[in-house]
Amino acid sequence: MAAPSHDPTSTAAWSALLAHRDATTPDLRGWFDADPGRAQRLTMDVADLHVDLSKNLVTDETLALLSDLAEQTGVLDRLQAMFAGEHINVTEDRAVLHTALRRPAGLDPLTVDGQDVDADVQAELAKVYEFARAVRSGEWTGVTGQRITTVVNIGIGGSDLGPVMAYEALAAYRQPGLTCRFVSNIDPTDLAETTADLDPASTLFIVASKTFGTLETLTNARLARQWLWDGLAGEIDDDDTSRREAVARHFVAVSTALDKVADFGIDPDNAFGFWDWVGGRYSVDSAIGTSLAVAVGPERFAEFLAGFHAVDEHVRTTPLERNVPLLMGLLNVWYVNFLGAHTHAVLPYSQYLHRFPAYLQQLTMESNGKSVRWDGRPVTCDTGEVFWGEPGTNGQHAFYQLIHQGTRLIPADFVAFATPQHALTDGDTDVHALFMANFFAQTKALAFGKTAEEVRAEGTAEDVVPARVFPGNRPTTSIIAASLTPSVLGQLIALYEHITFAEGAVWGIDSFDQWGVELGKQLALQIAPALTGDDDALRSQDPSTQGLIDWYLAHRA
Ligand code: F6P
Repeated sequence: MAAPSHDPTSTAAWSALLAHRDATTPDLRGWFDADPGRAQRLTMDVADLHVDLSKNLVTDETLALLSDLAEQTGVLDRLQAMFAGEHINVTEDRAVLHTALRRPAGLDPLTVDGQDVDADVQAELAKVYEFARAVRSGEWTGVTGQRITTVVNIGIGGSDLGPVMAYEALAAYRQPGLTCRFVSNIDPTDLAETTADLDPASTLFIVASKTFGTLETLTNARLARQWLWDGLAGEIDDDDTSRREAVARHFVAVSTALDKVADFGIDPDNAFGFWDWVGGRYSVDSAIGTSLAVAVGPERFAEFLAGFHAVDEHVRTTPLERNVPLLMGLLNVWYVNFLGAHTHAVLPYSQYLHRFPAYLQQLTMESNGKSVRWDGRPVTCDTGEVFWGEPGTNGQHAFYQLIHQGTRLIPADFVAFATPQHALTDGDTDVHALFMANFFAQTKALAFGKTAEEVRAEGTAEDVVPARVFPGNRPTTSIIAASLTPSVLGQLIALYEHITFAEGAVWGIDSFDQWGVELGKQLALQIAPALTGDDDALRSQDPSTQGLIDWYLAHRA
């Protein structure tokens, strides 16, 4: 039986925040003018991340009231419960222990539900590292003896987004001559295009699936297996034993369901496990990150994990007033529930982070897109935001117009790095400096805008003055690190994991289940026969769906 969830809207802090909102007109220009210490006071470090919260639409009173809200909704207690392995994922009756995946060896042992979590994590990591070393050194060869040059990760959702995002982000750390690719979509185009130019003899597949029951992943894994057998025809004998041997050299798996891995034909010795207390969207730092470990090597992967752990320690031990992830989560609650924001932009000024917004979409939206609290009662306030974004400066030339001058409030996180991986110059111009000038300019323009007087002072014709005014008071958080290292990437991911946690804890929802993805999966299985000749299945559909399927069938070449 789940512990009763709270209703945040019935707390005294919620009422106080409503009254405070009604009594406060956001005025970043005025607030900065009146308070020379604002920038310094609201800038905080979490591990290697330098985070400036001062351009958010908050005063010290707002932050104090948000802290009250955190206290009155039990955020800190829930945080400690998560770290201790209590079953805070109540609808699945599971612990939520992704933080255990990055605990360094040698800490006081963490035992949860009778399991020595640290020992299990370290043992599995050792297996992943051994495998990564074998592939990187060429010791692991394909069935014909060729060195592996391409690793293809087959997985979807958390079994894809984390690995591909991190692989892209850490491109500078990859081993030359060894490439990873990623197949996720059941659209057959994905597998076909991804494998089109590959040589099966030097390709190794990692089938990554927590449940090992996901339609897309298992379908793609079977297609890949067939592609391998077809491609090796002539090089291996045409019998079951040879095919099995080929699978053993070209397929490994990552899953919590090792029995299903064996059923698929993958040798359990070639499988890496993890545990039901790791949610899919929180799993890039488990064996799900095996493709990344192969690409960047065990030492770099260990640095990646250490980065996560540094932020875990910050969130676990830092008082709320300086606790960056919790404060950022509370700011999001402020924007969603009190200032009416529906979306949240994440704008990495780093081409290497081009998949980071997509990764965050699963992390945040699968976690906090809920309408009932963890005890099943309906929520009484909005939950979740639509997270979205694109790398700067591309976004500047596309959607920033709406952020600067539109009618909607869009809080935005700007992420950047002081030192680039490629320090190019254009003549005498340091191109990274130019890039960063854009980063600083955008957050400044969003915060302080441009008044009609300032526009007029530029000699602008009066009739176009209104169109050229920037209202300002568009909130941003700036996150800067020295450079995008494996550790810093781990820190960034952990930061957003804990932001997501804080929001869900205030809202009283279970941020760790994802029942909302199930109905569509069930219906797809019910509908599939209607597309391949089962007339009863077709006629049992609603008129709209039936009409669409009829049209599809009539046009399918
Ligand atoms: O359908 C959503 C989901 O369950 C995600 O939570 C998960 O990351 C993804 O599917 C993939 O699941 P699995 O790793 O079990 O294949």
